[in-house]
Amino acid sequence: MSQTVTTPKKILVLGATSGIAQATCRIWAAQGASLFLVARSAEKLAAVAQDLQVRGAGFVDTAVADLDDTEQHPALLAHAINALGGMDIAYLAHGILGDQEEAEQEFNAAAQILYTNLLAPVSLLTWLANFCVQRRTGTLAVLSSVAGDRGRKSNYVYGSSKAGLSVFLQGLRNRVDREGVTVLTIKPGPVKTAMTAGMAKSSSFADPDQVAKSIVAAIAARRDVLYVPFLWLPIMFVIRHIPERIFKKLNL
Ligand SMILES: NC(=O)c1ccc[n+]([C@@H]2O[C@H](COP(=O)([O-])OP(=O)(O)OC[C@H]3O[C@@H](n4cnc5c(N)ncnc54)[C@H](OP(=O)(O)O)[C@@H]3O)[C@@H](O)[C@H]2O)c1
Repeated sequence: MSQTVTTPKKILVLGATSGIAQATCRIWAAQGASLFLVARSAEKLAAVAQDLQVRGAGFVDTAVADLDDTEQHPALLAHAINALGGMDIAYLAHGILGDQEEAEQEFNAAAQILYTNLLAPVSLLTWLANFCVQRRTGTLAVLSSVAGDRGRKSNYVYGSSKAGLSVFLQGLRNRVDREGVTVLTIKPGPVKTAMTAGMAKSSSFADPDQVAKSIVAAIAARRDVLYVPFLWLPIMFVIRHIPERIFKKLNL
């Protein structure tokens, strides 16, 4: 079986200071890619941009933006693509875990998780998909999560934001595939990044560099869905098929 492997050229990264995004960008930088990085912390963003330049990126530019500010998305995206001189890949990596216990008590805490992880990406992807369809090319690669495959008491608010995102991406793929546009849904299991820093680590936590390698390969191969590490595909298959009358009794 032959795979199409193309070197990424012009890449827009939203949430570029994320641990997984940084690891992914390090690989792209070493390939000489042009990168436009968006993040909300100017200080962290400057450090990431400098590192990627040293690692061989052909071009690096940045914009500081809170991605919850959906009103700004059209201007931000147009500016970024103009600076890059086009766009081969948009990589959406921003997100929050939130506090499940707080979200069980406070609607605003739940709404924040849903806004950042679902509504803001929908705003970005609506603009980006239409841009790609007009040009009949481009890849939209988006970090969802295995947490969206089944609601669990320990993180169902975060999980529902990712479930909504995964279904949105599924429908978007069904719409734009015929227009020459690729949509990749990335479903990592737990990864060692700032997001999971407060959690008790187990051997099931993946290394961001390994996760990033799989993401770069999946984008190059124009895949639709990536479970990463791969073991999460059979694990989630089993979890999705546990009958609800049993599942509701489990402590997951
Ligand atoms: N780590 C895991 O176990 C895991 C598993 C499955 C899926 N994921 C998903 O993978 C993605 C990346 O997560 P990560 O593990 O790399 O975590 P991370 O290092 O905590 O990165 C999350 C990033 O999102 C940014 N962000 C949050 N809200 C934002 C906003 N309103 N505007 C702009 N940027 C914002 C954060 O910026 P600041 O640094 O400024 O806060 C941070 O750079 C997320 O979508 C996450 O849900 C992670």
